[in-house]
Amino acid sequence: MATSRLAFDEFEEGYAARVENLRRSAVRDLFGAISRPGIISLSGGMPDISSLPLDEVAECAARSVLVEGVKALQYGGSDGRVEMRRTVCELVEDFGIDIEPEDVILTAGSQQALDFLGRAFVNPGDHIIVEGPSYLGALQAFSAYEPVCDVIDMDDEGMRMDLLEAKLEELGPMGAKFIYTIPNFQNPAGVTMSLERRKRLLELGHAYGVPVVEDDPYGRLRYEGEPVPCLRSMDPDVIYLGTVSKTFAPGLRIAWIVCPRPLLAKFNLCLQGAGLCVSAFDQVFCEHYFHEVDWRDVLDATVAKYRERRDAMLAALEEFFPPEARWTHPEGGFFLWIELPPYFDTEQLLATALEAGVAYVPGSNCYPDGRGRSAMRVNFSYETPEHIREAIRRLSEAISDRMDLYRAFLAAGALAPDPSEP
Ligand SMILES: Cc1ncc(COP(=O)(O)O)c(C=O)c1O
Repeated sequence: MATSRLAFDEFEEGYAARVENLRRSAVRDLFGAISRPGIISLSGGMPDISSLPLDEVAECAARSVLVEGVKALQYGGSDGRVEMRRTVCELVEDFGIDIEPEDVILTAGSQQALDFLGRAFVNPGDHIIVEGPSYLGALQAFSAYEPVCDVIDMDDEGMRMDLLEAKLEELGPMGAKFIYTIPNFQNPAGVTMSLERRKRLLELGHAYGVPVVEDDPYGRLRYEGEPVPCLRSMDPDVIYLGTVSKTFAPGLRIAWIVCPRPLLAKFNLCLQGAGLCVSAFDQVFCEHYFHEVDWRDVLDATVAKYRERRDAMLAALEEFFPPEARWTHPEGGFFLWIELPPYFDTEQLLATALEAGVAYVPGSNCYPDGRGRSAMRVNFSYETPEHIREAIRRLSEAISDRMDLYRAFLAAGALAPDPSEP
């Protein structure tokens, strides 16, 4: 085997400075640990695609080649196929978004769209605004472009608009490149932004000349309550991201950006540099799936499963978790956010949890600034209700052990009580 003449890892200075700033993905890092037998993983964010009618899906795949011929296997334009963009227009009509194929560009997953946002908008040191906590994959994608991330805390109604306004005021007009939000069933907090906050967000974005980015992979996964209009349906200036990952399958890397046309031209250039075009086969496959399969029925069945799993998690938390812990009540989506008393460090706790046979994402991964240390993200979309209950039981034991220790120290006067504790 030929040996490399450039031993890159012995020459750290060979790498670009931006590589130093790249964040790791805790979920990807945990992949090795969670594949050990006996571990129940609440750490990932995988959809349950076991309800897909595989025979019909296979027919769609076959027809993709039979009908389109070699076009399904060829390079394509970097906007994406007009047929798939038309399909996107039909899909987003459900959310009150009225657009034409010329308003859409396809990307290889929304993850690629997030990278393009950084690529198109961010110079090192530019400010961007994110929710606290936020999607760790977005933080990872943005980090490559070396922004200053300003974190706006959330409460039960989503991003706090008083804090956002104060931050925008501090930064001045056009002082941030964009505001990134996941208004529906947020990853990781599970919170949905109220209509009042959505309206205020759009007002503030316009008042300070800062574009709003709406990332909406979970919008169709509602388990209770009434849908709230999406931001893009209220304002054509919103940059809207959608994906087939949670409504069909994430193995097809098809997603879309809907935004004002001048911006699409920039994203088109990003795509040319990053991948030339999006897989033609994946596009044709999706066109067939969304037109020939009763995908809404398939999704209804999946949503019923997710609802049962969310309920199992909420019930297990009530049953097993100590009263000092707090958690969110998601009306949809995949995740729930748990806050433990401030003396917990969930990164440290993870080793104990893994020994007990359960994995989660430590909360600090969902902040760009090291906060979230006493919180964790748990996923309920993938494991069975029985496994979820068992995972929460195991987790509660790991937590209770540490809590007992803390209480004992406290009783012995060895520790001062934390004033921020409930
Ligand atoms: C909020 C959010 N945005 C984007 C993505 C990436 O999705 P895709 O599979 O389309 O790349 C995810 C995946 O979990 C997500 O939760």
